[in-house]
Amino acid sequence: MKNYLFDFEQDACIKNELHLNNGIIPICFRDLIPEINNTGYLTHSVYYYPAKFIPQVVKYCIKTFSKENDIVIDPFAGSGTVGLEAYLNNRNSYLLDLNLLLNHIIPIKIPDSKNELKESILRKKLDSLIKSNDKFMPDWSNYEYWYPKEFFDVLSKYWGYIKKDENDIYTKIIESVLVKLSKYYSYAEHKTPKLFKSKSKQILVDKLLKGDWKAGLINELHDLSIKTLLNINNVIQFSKDKNNYVIYHGGIDSANYKYDDIKEFDLLVSSPPYLQAQEYIRTSKMDLYWLGYNDKDIKKLSSLEIPYRKPNKIIETETLNKLKESVTRKDLTRVLDSYFCYVLQSFENSMNLLKKNSKACIFIGNPKVDGIEVEIWKIIKEYFIERGFVFENVYEDRIKTRQLFRMRNNKNPEGMKSEFLLVLRKK
Ligand SMILES: C[S@@+](CC[C@H](N)C(=O)[O-])C[C@H]1O[C@@H](n2cnc3c(N)ncnc32)[C@H](O)[C@@H]1O
Repeated sequence: MKNYLFDFEQDACIKNELHLNNGIIPICFRDLIPEINNTGYLTHSVYYYPAKFIPQVVKYCIKTFSKENDIVIDPFAGSGTVGLEAYLNNRNSYLLDLNLLLNHIIPIKIPDSKNELKESILRKKLDSLIKSNDKFMPDWSNYEYWYPKEFFDVLSKYWGYIKKDENDIYTKIIESVLVKLSKYYSYAEHKTPKLFKSKSKQILVDKLLKGDWKAGLINELHDLSIKTLLNINNVIQFSKDKNNYVIYHGGIDSANYKYDDIKEFDLLVSSPPYLQAQEYIRTSKMDLYWLGYNDKDIKKLSSLEIPYRKPNKIIETETLNKLKESVTRKDLTRVLDSYFCYVLQSFENSMNLLKKNSKACIFIGNPKVDGIEVEIWKIIKEYFIERGFVFENVYEDRIKTRQLFRMRNNKNPEGMKSEFLLVLRKK
């Protein structure tokens, strides 16, 4: 089967070179959780999402810092990795994210059905979809830029069926596959997270148009849908006598969210957006239009995305102040101010609801700004120590990155990447 989306290769830990450095404890999550040997196992890959957690980190935190039936919060839930790992390990979860995709991902990632899904029902739906003549026109001002007419006409019919059909889990499975295929059958480069047209994609589209692309599309729709159903059935099998729940709210600004439906949490496991970020909303734009959102919805979400909004207060910590003295470019200082204002506000908002002695596990790398390394974990630590939290530990997961994106040759294919797990405790 074709590779519809770029994928992270499994990276390897650098085991032999580990040493304690400035109190930072070396760790290798892949070694500590060897039972997970494929980051996309079960339903972790039902949707494509950039900068996902590796499930090993999440499972490690959940197993080490919580007990069965506890409630785990992730205010930057993205694709819901924390939700699935919590569920598989008999915990409840509460997930928030600005990206509306979360509302489409969770129902198939963590199905609430206790009964196995039937292939025959899915096949019947797929047959009806292919014959359907309902059309769905996304409320998207420049869709013509992204599609040749031939692909668009067929895709809009398939989506028309999805919009009219009963919105059950089978429809949601097909919807998730159509999201992937709608990117593949477009001018958008499907192997990288950013939404852009590429020369190689133009060549691929021209080639597809010369052949029987429609038969290919139908085959792929069937194969991927069945594959997704089997993965979901494996989760269902696994969860027969489970009663754990997942609460999720996509389209939420965590920095200003009021947790009205919950009083306290037992654990926070989260990875905030990248400093000079992915632009998650822009990355998901094509998916969101097909899923039924419009220009206005997407604009509104983009305006709330961290770190692209005006800060409403300036954060000061020792490390951040020092860093700002060395960063000379005004635009970069602005990014730093916005980033720390809203990331910390989002964490504080949820960490205030942690029970006494509960832990907050924050997983983040050290990006560079103006050539200077930003120790994000240290700034978060300083901020929360001032607010009565206790610093427990910081771990460094050093991995050898091979090829980050299949199509793009990483500039430093055998390079090194460190990510840090900061553990704080509520007093
Ligand atoms: C590193 S990703 C999280 C990925 C997630 N850990 C996973 O495994 O899929 C950071 C997330 O922060 C979200 N985000 C950015 N600004 C936000 C805001 N103001 N409120 C809530 N989420 C936000 C992005 O949409 C993105 O999903």
